[in-house]
Order: sequence, then structure tokens, then C-alpha cells
Amino acid sequence: MSTLAASGAAARPGSTKKASFGKAPDGQDVDLYTLTNKNGVEVAISTYGGVVVSLKVPDRNGKLGDVVLGFDSVDGYVSDKSYFGAIIGRYGNRIGHAQFVLDGKTYTLAKNNGENTLHGGNKGFNKAVWTPKEIPAKDGQALELTYQSKDGEEGFPGNLQVRVVYTLTDSNALRIDYSATTDKNTVINLTNHSYFNLAGPGSGDILGHVLTIEADKFTPVDSGLIPTGELREVAGTPFDFRKPTLIGTRINSDDEQIKLGGGYDHNFVLRRKMAAQISLAARVMEPKTGRVLEVWTTEPGIQFYTGNFLDGSVQGKGNITYTKRSAFCLETQHFPDSPNKPKFPSTELNPGQHYHTTTIYKFSTEK
Ligand code: BGC
Repeated sequence: MSTLAASGAAARPGSTKKASFGKAPDGQDVDLYTLTNKNGVEVAISTYGGVVVSLKVPDRNGKLGDVVLGFDSVDGYVSDKSYFGAIIGRYGNRIGHAQFVLDGKTYTLAKNNGENTLHGGNKGFNKAVWTPKEIPAKDGQALELTYQSKDGEEGFPGNLQVRVVYTLTDSNALRIDYSATTDKNTVINLTNHSYFNLAGPGSGDILGHVLTIEADKFTPVDSGLIPTGELREVAGTPFDFRKPTLIGTRINSDDEQIKLGGGYDHNFVLRRKMAAQISLAARVMEPKTGRVLEVWTTEPGIQFYTGNFLDGSVQGKGNITYTKRSAFCLETQHFPDSPNKPKFPSTELNPGQHYHTTTIYKFSTEK
């Protein structure tokens, strides 16, 4: 079994390297692609789940550190239940009561999260082996991953052709382009589920990171974490991140929504000038290392999740135990449960239409 550590020494700047990452449960070979930009910034991506396995970016002194949680070999991802670094589909986040109606027909999905469906069902895109192809990029290194999700897979209608392109740019950004087409009316909501800790591996919780979210509203949830349908003002609530605020300041506050999420586990309604245009969604700064992450997206929402369900039972890369709130996720998306919420932006995709969304994770530092 090849491991991340065994996959070799640091790669040449401006190169892409392929190594074995093990085998999927069905025996398919899984590869690990390491993209290195001209600054030596490096992202490793597995064909299993399209997972971002590691992402090494500089701190304010130029020292590279891995800022995402994950596993040393594919086996960790096979048994993983937290979606570390994975591509999420066909539908990111929850669908209430594991069903939805489309064109008058009820589609029934797996109840893999209480009464609800989470992140695509029992075997979402995070458990699929994707077909890789190195493709040219104007400004960096790019890897294309494709996957065909069959009509009826996990209960969703339509054969869906999915293409995800990861580009590591020479300006230290990880750009993700998601596209898809279908042969029947369906619903789709793709995202990436990286868990970030900008202080680096084993550095404890993320409560000291400073967060800004470009949102005036969020979608409150019920006890199953399904949006109620309301778009609530963040003003005067622990969800107001319109100005840079420590993640930890209000995370244990006596607030109904914080209690339901066990911390933050909510979709924010992004403030945007023009739909479909890429805009800044969130910014995170880590004071000890000076690392800054900006999230840019064409999506209308972002799920801010503070790793509330991490409980120390999982051991990741370098034998580090992943404890509660030792990472945060910023999952760009359409709103959870949109197929059952006619007032939310639509997640329908019909034959002849092209689904295309872009999210960029930009890294820099601050003194
Ligand atoms: C969800 C959380 C869930 C996590 C990992 C997030 O997108 O909102 O509730 O625990 O993913 O599955």
C-alpha cells in the first residue's frame, strides 16, 4: 500500500506527479496526483472521491504547511464518514425526509442522516473512483476528473456526466470548476468538503481563526439541520460575520440556532452583485501563522461548518487525532434542501442545459 509519505520527495516547481494511492474496495487502482506551482505550493488530489488530500501553502515566513485534514492512504477515505476533502454530489448537504418531487414524480433517496439524505446518500461522489486527465492550464497546473453518475444512482434521475477541474495557479489559488450535463431532468449541487486549519497539522482547534462572511442573511434550521425556509438577518446574532470576528467568540452562545448546530453548521446567503458572477464569499485569517484564505464563488450560498461532529475517534495524516472543532469547512453551494424549497434558488438541471460553477480558494499571508 503506497502512502502519502511514501509517494516521494517534494516535486519540481511547475510540475504534476502521479503515484499510486492504493486500491478502491472494488479493486480499482487509485492514483494520487501532486500538482506543484512555480512557488512550490502543492496540492495532492486522489482519484478516489476527487479528494484534496493535502494542500501545502506558505506562512508569513514562507514556511510551507499542510492546511487540510485527511488521510495517508486511500483506506482512510474508504472508511471515512466525515467527507474529508472530497467532491460532494450529486446533492451537497441535506435533502429533507430523503425525498423530493420533480415534474410531479416523487424520488426516494437513502436516509443516511437520521430521516434525511446527506451529501448524496450512501455512496455519494466522495466514494467514486474518478477518471483523471492532466490538462494544460494558462497559469499553473490542472487536473480534470470525470465521473458518470447513472440514472437512478442513489435514487436520483438522469445519467449525469460530471467534470471537475482542479487548477493550482501560480498565484497560490486552488480553483475548482464543476460542470455537468444530464439526459433527464434532475437536481444537482456540487461542492468540495475540505476541512481547513490554517495553523497547520496538529495545531488544536480553529477558534482563534478570524472569519469574515459576505452574508447579511443565513438559513436557520430545524433539529434535523434542514432549513426552515426562512432567510434570517445575521444582524444581532452569532451569525454576524460581516466584520472580521474570531470563530470562537460566540460559538458556545445561548442561541437556539447555535445549539441546533452544536456550533456553526449553517448555510449563509451570500451577498452578491450579479448572479453567476464570481465574488468574494469569505475570508479567514490565522494570527499565529499569518495565513489567509479567501473563498470566491459563483454559488449563492456557503455552508460554514466548525467540525462539531469530529470527536477524536479518527486518526488522520501523521497519526494526528481529529478532535472537535480542529478544522472548519466553507462549502460553496446552493442552499440545503432546495429541491423541497420552491423559494430557494433552483437546483434543477435539465437536458440541454450546462451546469457550471466555480469556486476559488486563494491563499496569501498577512504580517
Ligand atoms: C454538514 C454537517 C456534516 C458535515 C460532515 C457538513 O456539510 O453540514 O452537518 O456533519 O458536512 O458530514
